[in-house]
Amino acid sequence: MNILVTGGAGFIGSNLIDELVIDNKVICVDKLNYGMSNINHLLNNENFKFFGIDVTDYDALNEIFLNHQIDMVYHLAANSDIKQGVFGSEIDFKDTFLTTKVLLDVMKNNNVKNLFFSSTSAVYGDKKEVLNELTPDLRPVSYYGGAKLASEAFISSFTAMCDMNVVIFRFPNVIGKRLTHGVIFDFINKLKNDPKKLEILGNGLQCKPYIYVSDLVDAIIKLTKNIKPGIDIYNISVIGNGTTVNEIADIVVDEMKLENVKYEYTGSDRGWKGDVPKFSYDITKVLKTGWKPNYNSNEAVRKTVKDVLGE
Ligand SMILES: NC(=O)c1ccc[n+]([C@@H]2O[C@H](COP(=O)([O-])OP(=O)(O)OC[C@H]3O[C@@H](n4cnc5c(N)ncnc54)[C@H](O)[C@@H]3O)[C@@H](O)[C@H]2O)c1
Repeated sequence: MNILVTGGAGFIGSNLIDELVIDNKVICVDKLNYGMSNINHLLNNENFKFFGIDVTDYDALNEIFLNHQIDMVYHLAANSDIKQGVFGSEIDFKDTFLTTKVLLDVMKNNNVKNLFFSSTSAVYGDKKEVLNELTPDLRPVSYYGGAKLASEAFISSFTAMCDMNVVIFRFPNVIGKRLTHGVIFDFINKLKNDPKKLEILGNGLQCKPYIYVSDLVDAIIKLTKNIKPGIDIYNISVIGNGTTVNEIADIVVDEMKLENVKYEYTGSDRGWKGDVPKFSYDITKVLKTGWKPNYNSNEAVRKTVKDVLGE
């Protein structure tokens, strides 16, 4: 297949491409927020091509579709740092929503029907119940979650209007090698700067499921192999409990072999405005497909800390 991956130079996109290039021709488009380091190793691979474009640039994206027969698109380009919302809604409007809208227009124009979309638990908002794909009344509390939900809505309308075949995953927190942001990344950087104290946003009791990136990539590839007409949405996560921020701090300190680190909390039940401090997923639907994650949440955290320290 000829596959196009948006955001392919990022953390998850580059891990996905590493698997896709084994059997497919892959075109990666990315505006390189984090540079080329995640894809440098692919540049000599004859199954791989890179275009440094902004996905919201209709003409640049359309040109790539006109020059290549694309069979399937994996759309991962987005602002991935929810905290950026404190500076305003523009970044999520453009990088999280408009990338989706422009991509859909270009796909329609070129009669490309197959799409995978990386959505998020943030579309649900701050809910107490265990979340499944049919949980009603989605009320995002971050611009990022709003832009992802708006993307899902546009994808739904394009699917109906243009007879598309779509798989959507609502990712939880995804971690692993080449991580570009998030609590593990922040803790390691803070402790490298000052190994005696660690500032923890919120009260440390925030608790979320963390999935290891190779488990996620396995599921994406498995569930997009026989993509069907309409939209199929999956909550994807680990089996068992999530990991608290305090547990993450302990694992990072342990793996960095530090002692007597003073934790300093900024207070409140959440790390920042727009954060959802606790959520858990019902993943019955995805488990019924036969996919199963190899790591639970705490194992994924420890493995990621080792990865990041080893990079
Ligand atoms: N990492 C997570 O925990 C997580 C959780 C839920 C959903 N997601 C979603 O998964 C996808 C990948 O996330 P990630 O963690 O790999 O993030 P990432 O930031 O590492 O990768 C995203 C890539 O998209 C690119 N990009 C952003 N805007 C662009 C634009 N306008 N044009 C072209 N390229 C653009 C960036 O340069 C970056 O390389 C994103 O859509 C993100 O919202 C991630």
